[in-house]
Amino acid sequence: MVRTIQDKILKLKKENDVCILAHSYQAAEIVEIADFTGDSFQLSVMAQTAPQKTVILCGVHFMAETVKILSPEKRVILAHPQAGCPMAEQVEPVFVEHFLKTNPGYTVVAYINTTAALKTVCDVCVTSSTAVKIVQNIENENILFLPDCNLGDYVSKNVTGKNIKLWQGGCPIHAAVNPAEVDKAKELHPGALVLVHPECTPSVVDKADFVGSTSAIMEYAKQSDAKDFIIGTEVSIAEHLAYACPEKNFHILSKKLLCPNMKITSLMDVYKSLTGEGGLEIDMDEDTIHKARKCIDEMIRLGK
Ligand code: 13P
Ligand code: SF4
Repeated sequence: MVRTIQDKILKLKKENDVCILAHSYQAAEIVEIADFTGDSFQLSVMAQTAPQKTVILCGVHFMAETVKILSPEKRVILAHPQAGCPMAEQVEPVFVEHFLKTNPGYTVVAYINTTAALKTVCDVCVTSSTAVKIVQNIENENILFLPDCNLGDYVSKNVTGKNIKLWQGGCPIHAAVNPAEVDKAKELHPGALVLVHPECTPSVVDKADFVGSTSAIMEYAKQSDAKDFIIGTEVSIAEHLAYACPEKNFHILSKKLLCPNMKITSLMDVYKSLTGEGGLEIDMDEDTIHKARKCIDEMIRLGK
């Protein structure tokens, strides 16, 4: 059944010259039919270089928007129309405008996990893999970091000479893990290395052996000589790593680390996006693309 639909998708995608991009939190059966799998930033870069004129994004809404901002000439389709990220929807542009009225002169740093509308009122974007470097490279000392206060806390502790105000938002999936679960996982898997995403709370991050973005965690586990790992990010990462490194053991830190928005996309959604019966085409006006793009271009400039 799964194989049959995967074969139909591969055939249609070739006939119609479509590029399928999947975030690493997607299920294995989706990753198998994708042209490229990666973290949020890698996906948008890939979309720019892909020769195809149509991109189907298997992930969440803000990722499809980022692809559209960077490649406005392409048709960008989000495979499941309701796949949204609750963190990305936590801040409205008007909140930032209000903040700047009462705190003039601040540089507003937006995690890439934000809406295109919000990016139009921010100064620079960051991803979890580039946040520390970019914040350190910002000329201004006064910074508002949003929406993830956990990633923001991690950044604050790893840069010098900055006055960083944190927005009190975050990822409800990563933030749900507590330090007692780290202790329990270590007890169950003695000697295993704990690798966590900086979207986890500081009390969880403090107990980790390694802190990094989705792709940094995967890279670290692949390169490491260790055999056992406790993975503190979305559960699919432990599964993908198990396939990539069959000689190693990957344990999930908590079963709470399952993002329903990332898992809502099925093979049938991808199939229907290809046939034109499903999916959501991202439609964005030129002004939004232009203003949001500035924020992303600044990320590329400061991330070098
Ligand atoms: P990255 O893929 O950039 O590590 O982000 C993690 C995440 O939560 C994506 O939704
Ligand atoms: Fe959003 Fe968190 Fe899910 Fe990523 S894991 S899509 S940040 S809710």
